[in-house]
Amino acid sequence: MTSRIIKVEPFDLVVFGGTGDLAYRKLFPALFHRDADEQFTEPTRIVGVSRRPLDSEEFRASVKDALWKFGGVKDGAEPVVERFLQRIDYAAVDATGDNGWDKLKALLDGDDKVRAFYLATGPDLFGPIAKKLAANGLVTAKARIIVEKPIGKDAASAAAINDELGSVFAENRIFRIDHYLGKETVQNLMALRFANALFEPLWNAAHIDHVQITVAETLGVEGRGAYYDGAGALRDMMQNHMLQLLCLVAIEPPRSLDADALRDEKLKVLKSLEPITAANAAAVTVRGQYRAGMAEGKSVPSYLDDLGKEASDTETFVALKIGVANWRWAGVPFFLRTGKRLPQRFSEIVVGFRRVPHAIFESNSDGIPANRLVIRVQPDEGIKLWLMIKEPGAGGMRLKHVPLDMSFAKAFAGLSIDAYERLLMDVVRGNATLFMRRDEVEAAWRFIDPIREAWAQIREPPRPYAAGSWGPAASIALIERDGRTWNEEFE
Ligand code: BG6
Repeated sequence: MTSRIIKVEPFDLVVFGGTGDLAYRKLFPALFHRDADEQFTEPTRIVGVSRRPLDSEEFRASVKDALWKFGGVKDGAEPVVERFLQRIDYAAVDATGDNGWDKLKALLDGDDKVRAFYLATGPDLFGPIAKKLAANGLVTAKARIIVEKPIGKDAASAAAINDELGSVFAENRIFRIDHYLGKETVQNLMALRFANALFEPLWNAAHIDHVQITVAETLGVEGRGAYYDGAGALRDMMQNHMLQLLCLVAIEPPRSLDADALRDEKLKVLKSLEPITAANAAAVTVRGQYRAGMAEGKSVPSYLDDLGKEASDTETFVALKIGVANWRWAGVPFFLRTGKRLPQRFSEIVVGFRRVPHAIFESNSDGIPANRLVIRVQPDEGIKLWLMIKEPGAGGMRLKHVPLDMSFAKAFAGLSIDAYERLLMDVVRGNATLFMRRDEVEAAWRFIDPIREAWAQIREPPRPYAAGSWGPAASIALIERDGRTWNEEFE
């Protein structure tokens, strides 16, 4: 099977933070793969921008290194790499000063070509760069801007950044990336819900008992300690990726896949989240911080040692029990957990259905296990629907819990593309469906801010957990208090 490539119109893409980690690890490899698949139309140019005084040749050499290191370039692809590198230029620009803007302008084509500015920088530079783009006459009719999370660190700072961006770019020209929305299986969640008649009648509190969303990582904070220590898991993962996943599980069917139709529905979910405040935070939140332990067979240091600090109250693990106060979801808890240095790297959504109302089969004291729909976002993307069947053979009516197993990873091997590849092409097409609108980002912060305030009031430090464990025991207690368990049927 091959995938169908729809070409995009020619574009100029300017990457601020062009010598940074995100650019080298994700953006240039993503662009390279789209180019290698012949998705670009000539003349398409990419310009890296940073403060460093490099010339274009030196910059191309650094991108080439990055492609070989992080880009999954296959042997024999040298000519395609060379063709890609020829699209690349570099401008040393002082993002908040006056130097370099003329050179950047000279590298870009005219008004009728799509022009995209990717700000792979800290959020403090989003507003200042947008203003400089305007002041230097770089914002053409087809210009658009792409910003990475985090958009601020709370609702107030996000609103300030959004105001600054909005003073230069119309809302439909601002593309706020949440790369989870570009992941293949996350879109499959929408296909599953809205392209199949089977699930929708069951997709509500009458039939669904609870929902779990886990994003587990084995890595620690790596080289990102300075950023991470000021953020923590709640702001780094919950405010954006995890709440976006929750939204896609919980939304009402949108009128269409039109960007605003989908985002209107997500916004309604965000506004329906039951507030977590000092009154209930102790009962419905758990935060943890990893200590030394074992990860992937190696002993690894604690968070504090990773940071080189004596003390920190930043959480590297968080679990929440969230209610969605509307007709569809009243009384259905959503359990979300995410953490660094957990035993396995995986992201999944588990929809736990209600048990059968009356048992006609003999079973053990726990009764007949309920059906579960497990949507594996990564790795080994796929969907499993756990059903009860009769165990084959003689010996009476014995039941067994087995999965109907659909592995996208096997069925469509090699076809799935990285989230950034998809999202970058969507920007060129001007399709904002998979990007966050201003009001969504701010509504997500309005849910998150009171949780941080509650933690500050409660003044309990994060609970310790050993690296390589599933987080603090309190996270298991959080879900078990409600008579549910975290899904452990991984194989
Ligand atoms: C980023 C977070 O947004 O997502 C990181 O800042 C996290 O801390 C990463 O590691 C996870 O992304 P993925 O695609 O590897 O699951």
